[in-house]
Amino acid sequence: MPLLEVDNLHVQLQTQRGPAEAVRGIGFTLERGETLGIVGESGCGKSITVQSLMGLLPASAKVTGSIRFDGTELVGLPERAMCEIRGNRIGMIFQEPMTALNPVHTIARQVGEPLRLHRGLSNADARKDALALLDRVGIPDAAARLDAYPHQFSGGQRQRIGIAMALACGPDLLIADEPTTALDVTIQKQILELIQSLVAERGMALILISHDLGVIAQSVSKMLVMYGGSLVESGPTAAVFAERAHPYTQGLFAARPALGAARGLKLATIKGSVPELVDLPAGCPFAGRCRFTIDECHATRPPATQMPHSHQVRCIRLDHVLAEATVA
Ligand SMILES: Nc1ncnc2c1ncn2[C@@H]1O[C@H](COP(=O)(O)OP(=O)(O)O)[C@@H](O)[C@H]1O
Ligand SMILES: [Mg+2]
Repeated sequence: MPLLEVDNLHVQLQTQRGPAEAVRGIGFTLERGETLGIVGESGCGKSITVQSLMGLLPASAKVTGSIRFDGTELVGLPERAMCEIRGNRIGMIFQEPMTALNPVHTIARQVGEPLRLHRGLSNADARKDALALLDRVGIPDAAARLDAYPHQFSGGQRQRIGIAMALACGPDLLIADEPTTALDVTIQKQILELIQSLVAERGMALILISHDLGVIAQSVSKMLVMYGGSLVESGPTAAVFAERAHPYTQGLFAARPALGAARGLKLATIKGSVPELVDLPAGCPFAGRCRFTIDECHATRPPATQMPHSHQVRCIRLDHVLAEATVA
């Protein structure tokens, strides 16, 4: 049984212009210890996807489909049962570390909190474990700084503390949603290396959202390319990087900024921008921006075409796209 099986997941959000589907029927599996990356422009549904795994969606969100985590169905799971999983079996690292950290509590208390809550540790034992975790994530002189508050640390150190918190209970799955986007370029690499080494050393599965294709190439064995709440391409990282079969994936690669330079991603080479959720077309979500589009692309959602190595692409114009790539 895979650790995580997501099938036909849909998430409907209430927006100012009415209900809109932010996630439209995506599916993937993750084995124990496996690593998965999610890429795509801002607004394509990456965060909503992982928030649905954590039960962290806005209260008005409607989720359908299936999320099976280690045999438990998470869609419709009562909040009490979700609390047993969140922060315990699934840990999350956020883009902005202060999302996870509470400014008025000491770091020892915060890193130890999941251990008291989920593992029933005493204050003294939780503090001891918190110290070991803070040492491991590279907080200098952690023993002397246990009673310091988050604002007394740099941005990079705060993200390390957030990582210690996410790891406290030894989760089976670690989710990192653009964990370095808010950090200085020099710090980004250190934090990514820390995440990679912790994932390897603890045998955790990882879902990593990143704008940076270089980071994806180095960090994960398989990947999803999302656009308009849908998967347009997915498969082993090596296969997706080698083929770049979907026109949207090709656009992402063409727009790839110099390594580490990007805070947000703007696709200079793909004209147009991500449509508003409520305006998303019925057919291929990318049809409005794609130079291969024909009338049929607007009519129905493209089915998945199977490529070698369990690589999938959703594009009815694939023959033309690939023929052109071979000529070029
Ligand atoms: N709480 C919310 N209420 C309404 N719409 C939202 C909410 N959160 C996100 N959205 C919308 O859902 C879409 C997907 O958002 P998100 O998953 O955050 O994108 P990404 O992480 O890929 O940048 C966007 O169009 C965004 O505006
Ligand atoms: Mg996001």
